[in-house]
Amino acid sequence: MNKLSIAIDGPSGAGKSTISREIAKSFGFIYVDTGAMYRTVGLYVRRRGINPRDDVEVSRVLPDIHIDIKYENGVQRMLLNDEDVTDAIRAHEISAFASDVSAIPEVRSFLLGMQRRFAEIYNVIMDGRDIGTVVLPSATVKIFLTASPEDRAKRRYLELCGKGSDIAYEKVLEDINTRDINDSSRAVAPLKPADDALVVDTTGNTLAQSIELIKRLIEERIKDAL
Ligand code: DC
Repeated sequence: MNKLSIAIDGPSGAGKSTISREIAKSFGFIYVDTGAMYRTVGLYVRRRGINPRDDVEVSRVLPDIHIDIKYENGVQRMLLNDEDVTDAIRAHEISAFASDVSAIPEVRSFLLGMQRRFAEIYNVIMDGRDIGTVVLPSATVKIFLTASPEDRAKRRYLELCGKGSDIAYEKVLEDINTRDINDSSRAVAPLKPADDALVVDTTGNTLAQSIELIKRLIEERIKDAL
């Protein structure tokens, strides 16, 4: 039987992962966070002291990177060469490394096969930047989730404060704006809505409101297939 797939794309801090996790739970799908894969490559490159924009050097070390994903109580854990790096990849400084390495075509094709394999085996909700456009162009439902940069920076800032970081809000906003430009302007698989994606702007919504809204939109589209 063909598997169902839900593609959730959008810029950083739009709430993709929190919303996707909730939706995966309520529909019984596997949640695949593809940003975590780019973050894992970014972490490896940083640890090796490699410039994340040096496409030759980064491509050269790709064969040394073995990424595994495992699920514990439905939570995605990332393994880098057998080490659990689930928490390490969330450090703020890894975001820019992930964004830089994600512009390298060899890194994208390195991760593409793994992403598609998940969707062949499981019903998935997969979030990222290019899921609806490149990874799963035939996804059952495609959603492009966005919100104002200020709203997204506020969410990310509160999340980082909650983890004990003393970063300033202005720095988080500046980093979000830089990443938006990086992710949208790269030549390969840039961040943009697929032609057939539903664009949802969550500015001003509470998380609960956004989850309800997205759940309803998905339900309407997959109810015949469930
Ligand atoms: O979703 P995130 O912030 O954890 O993603 C980290 C970086 O990875 C982001 O700046 C862009 C990149 N990325 C990508 O290029 N394509 C994806 N499908 C997912 C993430």
